[in-house]
This record gives sequence, C-alpha cells and structure tokens, in this order.
Amino acid sequence: MSDPYDVVDPVLIPWADAHGLTVQKVNMGVCARWVWLESPVPDATAQLSVRRAHDVGYRQVDDGRFTVVVRVGDWEHAADATPGTLASVLDEQLVRIREYAVGMTCFQAGQFEQAQHIFGEVVRLNPRFLDGLCMRGIALMRLRRHQEALDCFDRALALKPDFVEALSNRASALLELSRLDEALAGFDGALAVDSGHANSWNDRGNVLTSMKRFEDALESYDKALALRPDFPEAKDNRTNVLFVLGRMSRCPPAYMRSLFDDYSSYYDAAMVGTLGYRGHLNLRALAERVLPRLTPPWRILDLGCGTGLVGDAFKDLARGGRLDGIDLSPRMIEAARRRGIYDNLVLGDLETVLHEPGHSYDLILAADTMIYFGDLAPTFAGVAERLEPGGFYLFAVESMSGEGWERLPVNRFRHSEAYLRAEAARARLEFIEIAPCLLRREKTEPVAGFAVALQKPVGR
Ligand SMILES: C[S@@+](CC[C@H](N)C(=O)[O-])C[C@H]1O[C@@H](n2cnc3c(N)ncnc32)[C@H](O)[C@@H]1O
Repeated sequence: MSDPYDVVDPVLIPWADAHGLTVQKVNMGVCARWVWLESPVPDATAQLSVRRAHDVGYRQVDDGRFTVVVRVGDWEHAADATPGTLASVLDEQLVRIREYAVGMTCFQAGQFEQAQHIFGEVVRLNPRFLDGLCMRGIALMRLRRHQEALDCFDRALALKPDFVEALSNRASALLELSRLDEALAGFDGALAVDSGHANSWNDRGNVLTSMKRFEDALESYDKALALRPDFPEAKDNRTNVLFVLGRMSRCPPAYMRSLFDDYSSYYDAAMVGTLGYRGHLNLRALAERVLPRLTPPWRILDLGCGTGLVGDAFKDLARGGRLDGIDLSPRMIEAARRRGIYDNLVLGDLETVLHEPGHSYDLILAADTMIYFGDLAPTFAGVAERLEPGGFYLFAVESMSGEGWERLPVNRFRHSEAYLRAEAARARLEFIEIAPCLLRREKTEPVAGFAVALQKPVGR
C-alpha cells in the first residue's frame, strides 16, 4: 500500500509509541518533518519525552490545544539557510501547522465553513501542502460545494498524481455531481494505486448502486468489508442493496433511520392529522379488553416508539412503573424525549436491543412498527426474553388473508393471521386476541390491520 506522506519518520513514531502519545498525522512539509500529537502533552513523563525528542532534533510547539513536534531538517533550500532564516522559516511553518490543526478541530466539530476557510488560508501560504488541499476539498464536499472541491483535489493531484486520498475524494465529488461514469473511472484509478483502499471500494459500490448495477455493487461492498470487516457504511450499503434486490425479510436499519429522521418534524401532523393514524388508539382499546387491570404500575416497553404517540396513550399505566422506548431514528427519539414521559429511550435496532441485557417488562407494545419486518421470529423471540411471566405483547400489523407474509411495493410488509399464530407458538407466546382494525389511510384508501395480543405464560 502506498503511503501518501512519503516518509514516516523512523525516530519519531517509536518515540511517540513508547511514551503513550497518539500520532494523529505525519507529514513531510516543504521545510520540516512534523508530527501532530494528541493534545495536550498529557503528563510529566511525556513532557520529559518531548525534551528528549529535542535531543534527537525535534522542536515542540504547544498552543494549549495541540502539540506539534517538528524535526528540523530536510530543507528544500538548505544551502540558502542561515540559522536565523531557518528559525524564521520554521516558525512560519509552525504557524501553518497549527492553523491546519485548528482547521481539523473545526472540521471534527462539524464547522465545515470555518474549516474550509482555514484550510484555504493554509494552502494560500503553502500551495504545495497536500493535506491542506485535500482537507479543504473534503470540507467543501460537506458543504455540498462539489465543484469547488473538485478543484482542490485536482490541484493536489497535479502535485502528486498518485495521492490516493485525493483520487478517491475526487471520485466521490463526481458521484455527488451525478457524473457517474467519471466517478467509476475515478474510483478504479484510486484502486489501481491502492487496492487496499476500503473507502474507495465502498464508494465505488455507491456509484454502481446509482447505476442500478446492484450485483456489481454488492461485489464492491464485499471487497470493502473484506478489507475492513467493521465498516458500518459498507455494511449498511450492502444491506440496502440486498433489500432492493428483495433478498431481505425486513427493512434495513439504515434505510429506516434516514426515512424517519426525515419524517420526524411532521410525523404527528401527517400521520394523525392527514392520514387518520390510529395504531396507538387501537392498542389502547385492545389493552382495555385484554389486560387484567387498567391501573398502574406497569413496566412498559414501546418498540419503535417514534415521536411517542403510544407512550402518550399508555403513560397513565406506567405511573410508578416505567415507560421505556426503543427507536433507531435519532430524530424520532428526540421528539419522544421532548414529551417528557419516557424513563429511558434507547437508540438502536429493536431486534438487536431486545436480545441485549436490560429490564424486564409487564407490557411490550409495537404500533405500526412490525410493518417494517416480514419475518417476525427474531422480534417475537426477543419479546419473549424481555417479558415477565404473565406479561403481554400488544402490536398492530397490516393484515392479509391466506398464509405467510408479503412485502408491499411501498417497502412495508403485511402478515396473515395464520403466520402470526404460527410464530407466536414458535416463540411460546400464548395467542390471546386478534382483532381487525383500521390503521390509517393510504392516500384515500383505508389500510386494514390486525391488533394482536400475546401473553407469556405464567409458568415460563
Ligand atoms: C410508523 S412509525 C410508528 C411510531 C409509533 N410507534 C407510533 O405508533 O406513532 C415506525 C417507527 O418505528 C421505528 N423503527 C422501524 N424499524 C425499527 C427497528 N428495526 N428498530 C427500532 N425502531 C424501528 C421507526 O424509526 C419509526 O419511528
């Protein structure tokens, strides 16, 4: 794998390792080798180490946020340099390095406008500063200024044509600009330089997905995951493609997250106001029929709690018990939190969270959440684990006649009574009641559902 930075200093890396400092960045500047270490230099031992580094030719500058250790040497114009000019050139270089570090801080804090401005200044002072050029391009991409970003990557590549970060990010900018053929060629170019560049494999997959070349996209995501098995974006992208290809028995978490993050600000108005949504009310009516008492305290878990409509409909029963929620959309969770009625809200995929250690409940609810799952077996098993013996699981699904479940073109699922009964039996949950109900309207058409009550047998 090629190293875009040419030289990793043979003295400094072991020195930093030996003293517990994390080397964040190594670069060959025009004038000096420099290293940016985690900040601030943490303790007296490390301070001493920095002094030792001085002995092997390093100089330290600490501005309270970052420690930069610079090794004097490798001067481009060493012949012209007197000790005085060396010092001033070095100081100027340090100013740029510190500026770059400040730019990185802004970038990491999501202040992309400020970051791109600072990187722009750094690059104005040192037009050959590859990292500065590349980071400015990346910050501009975050600002969706893709054309300007392209210019930064082009300038970096004019200086170093095989700079893989610039090749890969340039291709990403082309993808954002929907210049798909060029983007694909760009990622192929980056991978020709470095076939181990996992980001490029993943982003190449995204180009192929945009081209609707789904099988090729899967291959590309697989390459990314072979290189970096714990690569969340590549995993999500792969799952999304499997879903498009109809090879998933549930909606993928990443797809749901972005759907409901977008929906969160107008969910209540659209669902209740426009679509006449009644899932939460159906569950409450079911509860009134099947629960042995309608007095608190109940320990309640709300699966796919969304903005908290279900919590609101059941909060009276949770008094003195608890009311928890799980949802995978951060914005929906925030909306639920604003109601001030939940004791604990967990951000995550409910299939996963249910199987993790946690509280037990007397009542688990899922209104309009199971419609995003075809195969209900993992959820039922998780619910059975989390219910107290004698506890209830009340949920609503879209209904169908016949057997099994089916996926609808609108990316939801519906379930037959026969399927629900079979899965409940498999999870050893007792089937208490199934009632046809109206969930909401789809455009003007009513959506028919089942409100279902299961119970974990007392003896389990
Ligand atoms: C249609 S909304 C229903 C919200 C709420 N239950 C109600 O009745 O208003 C579906 C919710 O389920 C969440 N959701 C979907 N799949 C999920 C999953 N696998 N894990 C956790 N939450 C999920 C969505 O983020 C969304 O907030």
